[in-house]
Amino acid sequence: MSLILAIESSCDEMSISILKDKREILCNVVASQIDTHRLFGGVVPEIASRMHVECVSTVLKTALKEANVDMNDIDAIAVTKGPGLVGSLHVGMQAAKTLALAYHKPFIGVHHIAGHIYANDLVEDIQYPCLCLVVSGGHSELVYMKHEFSFEVIGQTLDDAIGEAYDKVGRVLHLPYPGGPVIDKMAKDGKCVYELPLPLNDDSYNFSFSGLKSAVINFCHNASQRGETIVPEDLACSFQSVALEVLVSKTIKAAKDYGVKQIIVAGGVSANAGLRNKLTKESSIPALFPPMKYCTDNAAMIASAARVMFEHQKFSSLDLSVKPSYDLEEESIEV
Ligand code: KG4
Ligand code: ZN
Repeated sequence: MSLILAIESSCDEMSISILKDKREILCNVVASQIDTHRLFGGVVPEIASRMHVECVSTVLKTALKEANVDMNDIDAIAVTKGPGLVGSLHVGMQAAKTLALAYHKPFIGVHHIAGHIYANDLVEDIQYPCLCLVVSGGHSELVYMKHEFSFEVIGQTLDDAIGEAYDKVGRVLHLPYPGGPVIDKMAKDGKCVYELPLPLNDDSYNFSFSGLKSAVINFCHNASQRGETIVPEDLACSFQSVALEVLVSKTIKAAKDYGVKQIIVAGGVSANAGLRNKLTKESSIPALFPPMKYCTDNAAMIASAARVMFEHQKFSSLDLSVKPSYDLEEESIEV
């Protein structure tokens, strides 16, 4: 039995979760700053870290109350060590170190993407070997996992991450930040009538989304110069169908090439309804998605990854520093 308290503060959410054993989530408090950052059309790092400082104690108190546990009952303190915004990461890191030091608890630094991946373990046991499609605001990667907590990055984006491309297209369409969930909804009501280029449609497992994003921007610019009206739902649908085509086809190809038992999807874009439908329909290998509330940043996913690290006694020392960019492969646990 284990009781892990995890803190996630890598971007604009301050979240604290307490996880009992493998998947009993006693609390998952998320203080989102999205309404503030929406005024600026994106996350302002300086504001994000300041707001984390203001709310971290309240989030902790709320979490302990909701879970009905005492700090002395906790077995380990986990925290996102990176990647993410340096100022934001520091707030969670200092809070976690303070708790670990004051209550004499083991301390676990968790890679943010390992957290996103292990959000899937909160649903059912991940079947290894598996292939993970990581799709978030900062990442688009294909990760081969031969066994538990082993990470081999076999493909990645050469430029923009998919979530970033969604958000930039959202900005062109004057949608509220973040554009991803809005485009996903709009795409359902649109038709794929606008022709956009299929990005990096080659034999590699890599992605590229900046060309597609630029094609959308140019398309809007040209239409406006010609005085033509664009149907936003149709553009959302056209953009999404091209983006998903390349994501899904490369994922299925890699899954077959590596002979995996399961495909898992991780990161904020795993909430995308189009992606869920397309991958489930087109893949003969079973696909697993995190529950909707654990797709975007939250501490339950960090606790889930930390639970595996706790079992393997993979602890960090209290001089651990945050790492704004971080190699996932370094995190692998050898068996
Ligand atoms: O994983 P996440 O919460 O933060 C990062 O680690 O980056 O992902 C946030 C990203 C944003 O770009 C957001 O637009 C995107 O996930 N996102 C979506 C959807 N929900 C969130 N993109 C497409 N469709 C969605 N339903
Ligand atoms: Zn994330």
